[in-house]
Amino acid sequence: MKIIKNIDILRNTINEYGENKAIGFVPTMGFLHEGHLSLIEKASSENDITVVSIFVNPTQFGPGEDFETYPRDLDRDARLAEGAGADILFFPDAREIYPIGASTFVEVEGAITKKLCGSSRPAHFKGVTTVVNTLFNIVSPHKAYFGQKDAQQLAVIKKMVRDLHMQVTIVACPIVRETDGLALSSRNVGLNPEERKQALILSQALNRARNLWKTGETDVKILKAVISDGINTMPLADIDYVDILDFNTLEAIKKIEAPALAAVAVRFGDTRLIDNIILE
Ligand code: PAF
Repeated sequence: MKIIKNIDILRNTINEYGENKAIGFVPTMGFLHEGHLSLIEKASSENDITVVSIFVNPTQFGPGEDFETYPRDLDRDARLAEGAGADILFFPDAREIYPIGASTFVEVEGAITKKLCGSSRPAHFKGVTTVVNTLFNIVSPHKAYFGQKDAQQLAVIKKMVRDLHMQVTIVACPIVRETDGLALSSRNVGLNPEERKQALILSQALNRARNLWKTGETDVKILKAVISDGINTMPLADIDYVDILDFNTLEAIKKIEAPALAAVAVRFGDTRLIDNIILE
């Protein structure tokens, strides 16, 4: 696997593979875990060339968020990415992605970016869509792989690709969980042992709502209360949001009549975790 920091070298390296090669792309912010590796493995099984990027994107972090402390470990990531089938690891620095004076952003407007994470992180998705668009321009992938854990990010990116007629297929991959149910996240390393224990409530509360929905309960207010009440039993849990929305549009719903997304964001100390399930 080649590790490349420079855009021109990356493009030349991809070109050297020859024409008509299928390029799979897995954009990440590094500190890779099994969730990322499942994306890389899938990309590698479906494409001729698999490019993984590691870039902790400053524009998607708000003031006071964890940009500085976001975990980073290139050597470990390189080993893991290569083991999962990556051919190229693109590891640019901020100046490479955002040239001096850069002032162009790509923003998906509307409810889809205002709800859920968008309400407590107002500039977050603008940063995500800008960097993903930039990375797509650099890598020119045929397929790009994203985890369902960041369900809102996935919906926003799909919308950007559709709205801008971008020639890339977005492949959604299922959430990977620890055996006890905690959704894998690079941020999980920030949890102390007690927070880690209590963080299990996210998947447990979501599953409780799913079980109730399976017995015929479709009232969103009731299902949301089940999730919030469950999470609030944990003294260290500080809810950012609990919501159930239309899966495709992220519009508010009162009853579940079509696929719905039940999503939560909860702080444990300095660590903010997200999780979700699809009710369909
Ligand atoms: O999901 C992430 O890790 C990031 O938001 C992404 C898509 C790599 C953009 O920085």
